[in-house]
Amino acid sequence: MPGTTEQIALLAEEGLRAISSAKTESDLLDAKGRYFGKKGAISEFLKGVASLALEERKRVGAAANEARTNLEAAFARRLEEIREKERRAREGFDRVDVTLPGRAPAIGHRHPISRTLTEIIAIFQRLGFSVRGGPEIEKDYYNFEALNIPKDHPARDMQDTFYIDWPGGDLVLRTHTSPIQIRTMETMSPPVRVIAPGAVYRCDSDVTHSPMFHQVEGFAVDRSITMADLKGLLTEFCRMMFGEGKPLRFRPSFFPFTEPSAEVDIRCVNCGGSGCRVCKDSGWLEILGCGMIDPAVYGFVGYDPEEYTGFAFGMGVERIAMLRHGISDIRLFFENDLRFLSQF
Ligand code: PHE
Repeated sequence: MPGTTEQIALLAEEGLRAISSAKTESDLLDAKGRYFGKKGAISEFLKGVASLALEERKRVGAAANEARTNLEAAFARRLEEIREKERRAREGFDRVDVTLPGRAPAIGHRHPISRTLTEIIAIFQRLGFSVRGGPEIEKDYYNFEALNIPKDHPARDMQDTFYIDWPGGDLVLRTHTSPIQIRTMETMSPPVRVIAPGAVYRCDSDVTHSPMFHQVEGFAVDRSITMADLKGLLTEFCRMMFGEGKPLRFRPSFFPFTEPSAEVDIRCVNCGGSGCRVCKDSGWLEILGCGMIDPAVYGFVGYDPEEYTGFAFGMGVERIAMLRHGISDIRLFFENDLRFLSQF
């Protein structure tokens, strides 16, 4: 009989199809009965080959045994699948439980820097200051010139930045918020009491410096304002920002647009004053520069230095956020790692 092994292969194929389409245990038993059970198609087929030559019979027998083994294995696998599915259905795995609480969507929150900024602004508003802004791409004139930092003056080196040639005069990414002092005084006569928050840019990058960071400028000009007013204001600000009993120090310094000038430091949060890499072993962290507005500045805005005096300060917002939260690396604020940001 020609093609007997092919016929077995065909029966095996049909049998496999019946097994894989079986939905229930009884479908499966039915398929077994029809194809490879005692009275199944393969057994029946083998009865018909008794008349073949011995060699041929052996070949057909071997093919039939192999087909049966495959079918048995497929049967066992499918049986397991069907039983597992029934078990899951029984235990309710595939059912939707409408009583479960909904999944809350991940809602973001404000960045720690803008929260700190908001707090600083709120404190100064309570102390009688109003808020003004200015451009981040600033004229050389406002960023330097009118702040008593002439072209080629060595003081510019402290705040090296990008210069853009532009027909209307050189432009820079502002290196501080102090240009808003000039812009404000050009358009307002004393008394002024203003804070000006915003992003500034410097050629600086390490654990406490970032090429982009935020400052809050503050200044007040009126008749008979003294350094004592400045000291009182900043001491009060630190009390409101950091709480009672946080040591603060005023250290003589230099800025071309204030005279006298000072820097204000607060105890290092990382080491508490014993010295570490964050405070460069000094035990203190600088949070702001300040001073009495230099009379030369009044010359640029048309204020009479005989009539008015005033103070100015500029604080680093990142520094203050680091102090408040005990963060030792400023770069964490700008890496946008949610494991860091979600802690605030
Ligand atoms: N603009 C100065 C700086 O960025 C800080 C400052 C502001 C100093 C106002 C004195 C008065 O370093």
